[in-house]
Amino acid sequence: PPAEPVVVAIDGPAGSGKSSVAKQAARELGYGYLDTGAAYRALAWHALAHGADTSDSTAVLDVSGDFDYAISLDPDAYWVRVGTTDVTEAIREPRVTDAVSGVARVPPVRESVNALFRSLVAHSGRPGVVVEGRDITTVVAPEAPVRILLTAAPEVRAARRSAELTSHDAAAIAEALHRRDASDSKVVDFLTAAPGVAVVDSTDLDFDQTVAAVLDVVRATLRQA
Ligand code: DC
Repeated sequence: PPAEPVVVAIDGPAGSGKSSVAKQAARELGYGYLDTGAAYRALAWHALAHGADTSDSTAVLDVSGDFDYAISLDPDAYWVRVGTTDVTEAIREPRVTDAVSGVARVPPVRESVNALFRSLVAHSGRPGVVVEGRDITTVVAPEAPVRILLTAAPEVRAARRSAELTSHDAAAIAEALHRRDASDSKVVDFLTAAPGVAVVDSTDLDFDQTVAAVLDVVRATLRQA
């Protein structure tokens, strides 16, 4: 049988550059790319489409029963679907971002998406997969040979996030980002590195430098293995 794919686990807070860096690192390694936040976003989208109150875990569990979704692992052809609907763009809308912490805090939801992540990785058909999220280094793939925490100073994260969005109310964006981090970090701690996790701090790095720093960790770790 083919060898198990190498997992490169990357965790970090919102605005750390995690998604774009992980995707580019996957391209350069010839690996698959799995954005785990997209699963929580897709469920939040699905819950909103059903008019569910996403702050109510019973309501979230009710709608998660018929939640049928799929995520591409191809860094060059990335999409997310719920049923037959392409939600790749829709899951980035602020209304989804505001609702997502509510669905991500429900333990049975986390267990079922984690099971899907493990199966996607196992059947990726690639030599490896870069998996990014909040609890990949600690819960989803604690045995991964490469585990990285990607951080950046809060001001830098807020500035990057506001550059990505069309609305430019920097103070409101910083506030929303910190609120979401505070809420998410009650569920999983993604602000401190677990033992054995390498820290890449992108505060003073541009995009290419951050990708290079991540690839350095990957190559140094795999060389030792
Ligand atoms: O990375 P992101 O902003 O797309 O993540 C969306 C939400 O999902 C975020 O608020 C936290 C949650 N999340 C999580 O709890 N665990 C993960 N592995 C990934 C994301």
